[in-house]
Amino acid sequence: MEWRDSQIVRVVDETPLDRTLFLEVPAGCDHWLDFRPGQFVVMSDPEAATPVRRAYSLSSAPREHAHLCITVRRMGGFGCVLHGFGPGKGIRLEPPQGRFVLAEDDAPLLLCAGGSGITPFRSFVVHLARQGRRAPVGLLQSAQQPEELLFHPLFEALTREAPWLAYEPTVTRAAPEHPWPGRRGRIDADRIRARLGDPAATWFYACGPGAFVREMLELAAALGVPRERCRKEQWG
Ligand SMILES: Cc1cc2nc3c(=O)[nH]c(=O)nc-3n(C[C@H](O)[C@H](O)[C@H](O)COP(=O)(O)OP(=O)(O)OC[C@H]3O[C@@H](n4cnc5c(N)ncnc54)[C@H](O)[C@@H]3O)c2cc1C
Ligand SMILES: NC(=O)c1ccc[n+]([C@@H]2O[C@H](COP(=O)([O-])OP(=O)(O)OC[C@H]3O[C@@H](n4cnc5c(N)ncnc54)[C@H](OP(=O)(O)O)[C@@H]3O)[C@@H](O)[C@H]2O)c1
Repeated sequence: MEWRDSQIVRVVDETPLDRTLFLEVPAGCDHWLDFRPGQFVVMSDPEAATPVRRAYSLSSAPREHAHLCITVRRMGGFGCVLHGFGPGKGIRLEPPQGRFVLAEDDAPLLLCAGGSGITPFRSFVVHLARQGRRAPVGLLQSAQQPEELLFHPLFEALTREAPWLAYEPTVTRAAPEHPWPGRRGRIDADRIRARLGDPAATWFYACGPGAFVREMLELAAALGVPRERCRKEQWG
């Protein structure tokens, strides 16, 4: 796809591993802010000796800001490079794209995120809140450590004020003596069953590392979610 010049305008640290980059919308591309929640942008560094293009899900909701936001984990080659960029750094950006998008009907949603796979679901949930959502949305997030639960304060605040949202974080590698008061252990069949209403009427989404996504889809299938109601996005 055709790229445009953009730049990073602001950086916000979210966890010890993740930071959100606010990206300038290129001149004449205001319509890019009308992306569908769940879509990603492809980025590259115009100054790199060897060009590398990498995809990043948009973590902001459409028109939530005057900028496009991505949230980058300090991981892998380009992930670490991008993590080191600050305001004013020029980048190349391709338009929002991808088919891992929020369903347009009002059917219940069950969203399962592993690690930084939560990024597109921030876009889903903020968009739905702005649209006046009523139907149930289950949001299961799994991270190794409590400090790595992305957007945790936002999801907790939304859950308190939005009866349709059920947010359930879990951590898998916290030391036993860690004061984390919440759930521990991987997202498993019991957790999914507890949040799944009618499996045939729910849209099931999974996003994150490949092994996580494969496991979530197997669990969903075993619990009777039809394949055509499952959507996935995975990296690695
Ligand atoms: C559609 C799509 C959306 C993506 N959205 C995001 C996003 O919102 N935030 C983000 O940080 N990354 C996201 N990624 C991953 C991103 O594109 C890069 O792969 C990542 O920044 C690592 O850089 P690299 O590929 O150069 O690392 P490499 O050195 O080539 O690869 C490192 C390895 O780390 C693993 N890995 C890469 N990214 C992650 C990750 N985020 N979490 C866990 N394991 C990972 C993979 O196994 C990969 O092979 C997305 C990828 C795709 C395909
Ligand atoms: N502080 C650090 O140095 C640090 C922090 C985070 C990640 N990392 C490294 O970065 C890489 C990716 O990390 P990440 O956090 O983005 O992803 P990840 O650790 O692979 O997975 C994120 C979450 O998904 C869970 N998960 C993974 N596979 C699963 C499966 N098959 N079924 C159910 N749950 C599953 C993990 O549980 P489990 O923990 O049980 O696998 C974890 O809670 C890993 O190599 C990781 O070790 C390092």
